[in-house]
Amino acid sequence: MLSTHQIWTIVFTVPFLTRAIHARGKLNVLHMIADDLRPTLGCYSDPVVKSPNIDQLASKSTVFYNAFTQQAVCAPSRTSFLTSRRPDTTKLYDFNSYWRVHAGNYTTLPQYFKSNGYTTFSVGKVFHPGIASNHSDDYPYSWSVPPYHPPSLYYEKRKVCKDKDGTLHSNLLCAVNVSEMPLGTLPDMENTAEAIRLLKSVSDADNPFFLAVGFYKPHIPFRIPQEFLKLYPIENLTLAPDPDVPKKLPSVAYNPWTDIRKRDDVRALNVSFPYGPIPKDFQLQIRQHYFAAVSYVDAQVGKLLSALDDLDLARNTIVVFSSDHGWSLGEHGEWAKYSNFDVATHVPLIVYKPDEASAVRNFGEKIFPFIDVSQNSEEYYNGGKGHGVESVVELVDLFPTLSYLAGLNPPHRCPNPSFHVQLCTEGFNLAYLFKHPETHIDHESYAFSQYPRPSDSIQQNSDLPDLADIRIMGYSVRSNDFRYTLWVTFDPVHFRANLSDIHAGELYVRSEDPGEDNNIFDDVEHGSVLRKLGTQATWTESLKQHIYYFNAGSKSKGVL
Ligand SMILES: *[C@@H]1O[C@H](CO)[C@@H](O)[C@H](O)[C@H]1NC(C)=O
Ligand SMILES: *[C@@H]1O[C@H](CO)[C@@H](O)[C@H](O)[C@H]1NC(C)=O
Ligand SMILES: *[C@@H]1O[C@H](CO)[C@@H](O)[C@H](O)[C@H]1NC(C)=O
Ligand SMILES: *[C@@H]1O[C@H](CO)[C@@H](O)[C@H](O)[C@H]1NC(C)=O
Ligand SMILES: *[C@@H]1O[C@H](CO)[C@@H](O)[C@H](O)[C@H]1NC(C)=O
Ligand SMILES: *[C@@H]1O[C@H](CO)[C@@H](O)[C@H](O)[C@H]1NC(C)=O
Repeated sequence: MLSTHQIWTIVFTVPFLTRAIHARGKLNVLHMIADDLRPTLGCYSDPVVKSPNIDQLASKSTVFYNAFTQQAVCAPSRTSFLTSRRPDTTKLYDFNSYWRVHAGNYTTLPQYFKSNGYTTFSVGKVFHPGIASNHSDDYPYSWSVPPYHPPSLYYEKRKVCKDKDGTLHSNLLCAVNVSEMPLGTLPDMENTAEAIRLLKSVSDADNPFFLAVGFYKPHIPFRIPQEFLKLYPIENLTLAPDPDVPKKLPSVAYNPWTDIRKRDDVRALNVSFPYGPIPKDFQLQIRQHYFAAVSYVDAQVGKLLSALDDLDLARNTIVVFSSDHGWSLGEHGEWAKYSNFDVATHVPLIVYKPDEASAVRNFGEKIFPFIDVSQNSEEYYNGGKGHGVESVVELVDLFPTLSYLAGLNPPHRCPNPSFHVQLCTEGFNLAYLFKHPETHIDHESYAFSQYPRPSDSIQQNSDLPDLADIRIMGYSVRSNDFRYTLWVTFDPVHFRANLSDIHAGELYVRSEDPGEDNNIFDDVEHGSVLRKLGTQATWTESLKQHIYYFNAGSKSKGVL
């Protein structure tokens, strides 16, 4: 028998509990995506880059230290993580097809939220523009309203960068006085303003929202506000620790950074193809501008999070900060993305999930106060590191993880093949790692990335071959201990890899060679290392399993 007190307790608390559960089941999502950003951030222990706002977010979040993209170039990566399918399933390795027509009518991450009652918004570069998203950013399937593109983007690659003599060029290095720019602004500033406007418009709405904000930086050209450069005096900077092309690097693995060669200031250097090198003083300036571009993105993140907070949305909004892939800053004598190295595949992945602490706080206390590093370079964020996860995870894991955290059913694992299945995932729900970040160092967790090439030797189109020109696919597997890559014959008509036809291989042992400079693939004398890792045949089997069976069941991440 219940006492009247107990009955009243139940009568009073059940509706509150229900409401609390309901509210928890309807969390908003703010997904910020940087373009070409490797984890050069304070919260990833980068010693140089100033990123106080992202660090502040990280201090209240789960930080995935070992997150990897599935292909290190924009359109294939974005189509992959937004559909939670690998490039072999989206059949997109270049920029030139729309998955719904070319591969399968796959449901996207925002589309899934939209179909579950969310209002979904796209600001800036979320899907890759052009054919890859049917010239519509996949509107109306993925978005409730037409996606926003900032007007000043029109000037992004035009002659707006001032040389020392005052003439205007299409430069790589393009730190500008923003008030002198056409329209008096820059694309990411417009993105931030539009995202804040949208947050204001939905703050009282009944439906939850999914707001994706794709920043254009630190992608080249480095058209950024000039005040961020002074955070990185050239005399304080160093070259990459390994600025030379490694001796045992197979040529098929090298990317010749053709995109930066096309900019006016780089072209004037007469850098030889394919290896260069770029003169050292210019290398330092590229690094300086990249770091400054990261701090500029950090400022946008800070402004947006501060607005989220002011609108009292930080207590019921999941915040994700990620990137599409990395960018080589001179490591291995390489620049840009377009490879299977860590510098190109390793990405930041930070996930903030509101909890009781963020719901109950003192009046006026902010979760995300804006930190203005451009005005005061001493303003670091020193407030702790958040929950660090060492397990190796992949961007295809985002879709099931975000769905679950927001209160939706995560999609089921894909069968193989899955071209006919609209809604499924080739990733894993990482929610387990939020509750148990300490149960990491899971040596069984792998990330798979791949990169296509037109030939064994380096050509003008080695960075980004069109589908019809692909002859070789580099399949790469990364664990906490090693990276292993096989470059094999690939048939672009039937989308078939021939694993018996190996053109080259790479094996890097992380404990001895974190920069991936010493390829020991052909070095049978490294028997003890290989025994530690298992035999090469084992890893080949693991790759085969991935390619033919999409790795079903061979990954043992914690799955809810
Ligand atoms: C693709 O799926 C969407 C719903 O997700 C549907 O509206 C559309 O008709 C489908 N298109 C084709 C060609 O099947
Ligand atoms: C792609 O866009 C065109 C033009 O707006 C439209 O007619 C076509 O149906 C779209 N394709 C798909 C698969 O929705
Ligand atoms: C930026 O340009 C504006 C307009 O030409 C000028 O007034 C201002 O002094 C410039 N700022 C800097 C820091 O050069
Ligand atoms: C540059 O290095 C000097 C000497 O180590 C240091 O005092 C200064 O704070 C550094 N400047 C910046 C902006 O990091
Ligand atoms: C690059 O080559 C052009 C034409 O050959 C020459 O005029 C110019 O001085 C060269 N620049 C450098 C930096 O070597
Ligand atoms: C795969 O490559 C091997 C070795 O070159 C060759 O013998 C075999 O015929 C190829 N298989 C297919 C299906 O092309």
